[in-house]
Amino acid sequence: MSEKLDQFKQEIEAFTSSSMEELERFRLKYLGKKGELTVLFDNIRNIPAEERKTFGQNVNILKNMVLSKVENLKSQIESKYTQQVDEMDISCPANSMEIGARHPISVVTKKIYDVFSKIGFTVAEGPEIEDDWHVFSALNFPPEHPARDMQDTFFVEKDPDVLLRTHTSSIQVRVMEASQPPIRVICPGRVFRNEIVTARSHCIFHQIEGLYIDKNVSFADMKQTLLYFAKEMFGNHINIRLRPSYFPFTEPSAEMDISCDICGGKGCNLCKYSGWVEILGCGMVDPNVLKNMNIDPNVYSGFAFGLGVERITQQLYKTKDIRLFFENDIRFLKQFEAI
Ligand code: PHE
Repeated sequence: MSEKLDQFKQEIEAFTSSSMEELERFRLKYLGKKGELTVLFDNIRNIPAEERKTFGQNVNILKNMVLSKVENLKSQIESKYTQQVDEMDISCPANSMEIGARHPISVVTKKIYDVFSKIGFTVAEGPEIEDDWHVFSALNFPPEHPARDMQDTFFVEKDPDVLLRTHTSSIQVRVMEASQPPIRVICPGRVFRNEIVTARSHCIFHQIEGLYIDKNVSFADMKQTLLYFAKEMFGNHINIRLRPSYFPFTEPSAEMDISCDICGGKGCNLCKYSGWVEILGCGMVDPNVLKNMNIDPNVYSGFAFGLGVERITQQLYKTKDIRLFFENDIRFLKQFEAI
């Protein structure tokens, strides 16, 4: 037995620690409910009577050793901690944190949401991987239309076709399938086209398309809506002009230019000396599209438009190279922080 007590004695003497948790474990090991010394005290009646007194005294000595060890180490740890706090300069400024900036495409998208939400448009979203129906067929694309060609569209699978959407008009189809007029939505999202990446074009970009269907919606309504949009985005001094164009899903169709903000319409290299910059496509929803969607074209009419967010952003911030929006170079993105 005394061998065991000797072993405990050596262990207790040798113990040291600078951690409160470890110290508490040490205390419990000897003095806890099932601790080594507690168990010895509990079993003291099994010790022969003549040895009992010395044994009890020895265990008591060990108990006191443990208690004073705990006391000493505890005050050592505490004083070290207060010393650290004393040495700490609490007036020292904290390390500065780098705060991220919103991406210019997000900034402009939000601005466009705000402009259209003021006149009652809500936002609808849809999948980037689509089928032929939602991207082409429902939108009155003839079967042989070149936009379906492998040149322009990224196909994921053929027959039946699964593809990356080439425009967010596919969302408009989904909205018309799911609801009846009045419909007033804008449809933002990434779109994909098999195009060479240059300073002016990219194979991925962001679109926002709009759709308004109700009774008696006219071309004049469209023109006023788009004029309102252009003035809210670029300033009250901006003019618009509509040029005839073609889209399978609108009739009549148009392309909208805004007066060049750099030269004020006089002509400069940004507007290729025309005084105008093209920013979106638009038109009255083709009756065939309404029919495809089970919306009666004799009762309802509507207009749609689609714009590229990168194009608008470039125009607003005079960014020459579209690739900058995709490279995520912090030196470029930081410039938009204050916006
Ligand atoms: N979907 C067309 C495009 O991607 C844009 C557009 C939308 C044109 C709605 C007219 C009406 O180019």
